[in-house]
Amino acid sequence: MLNIPLAIIEAFVLFIPGFIANPAAVITGGHFPMDGGRNFTDGKRILGDGKTWSGYFGGSLLGVLSGLILTGFFLLFHVAGSISYGSTFPIILVTLLAMSFGSLTGDVTGSFIKRRIGIQRGGKGSLLDQWPFALVSFLFLFIFSRGFFMIYYGNIIGALTILLITPPLHRAVNIIGYKMKKKDVPW
Ligand code: CTP
Ligand code: MG
Repeated sequence: MLNIPLAIIEAFVLFIPGFIANPAAVITGGHFPMDGGRNFTDGKRILGDGKTWSGYFGGSLLGVLSGLILTGFFLLFHVAGSISYGSTFPIILVTLLAMSFGSLTGDVTGSFIKRRIGIQRGGKGSLLDQWPFALVSFLFLFIFSRGFFMIYYGNIIGALTILLITPPLHRAVNIIGYKMKKKDVPW
């Protein structure tokens, strides 16, 4: 039997690295545009100046770091048996890399789509700002850490928890970033 409240909490807590990668990219970002300043065949920027390698790698690695810290807490409070990124360190690392790099690869995917439909860099993308990172993170987990994915997100409760919490959470984090003057716009 699936314990629904527990499944929701586990799905949320374990996805924290995926959530952290995006705002962390704002901190490390701004250097080396991923598209090298080039335009796509439609004459618009491929990605725009908001997607840089320093944000991509810095944000992803800070996401991984947050997952390792969480793992420390799980071990410290002896909850590792019920909630974890994996049973061995290599599995934990692969899971965290897949989740975090998937998160920022999804962020890039969202920007690519935004540019194609004519929303400029920093423009409000609504669900295009909020869902691609979670969906590509799921995809990377499915490919590289399927055991973990199946336990926590391979059921409708886990997947839906992340997709439903993402829009309000994204909004809240961006308002905080705006107030801290880390972001120019509150979305
Ligand atoms: N950032 C970065 N590299 C990334 C992701 C983010 O440097 N791979 C930094 C950029 O300074 C960016 C800021 O984080 O402006 C906010 O990220 P985001 O809202 O995703 O980018 P936007 O500027 O809104 O651009 P887009 O419209 O393409 O989403
Ligand atoms: Mg944005």
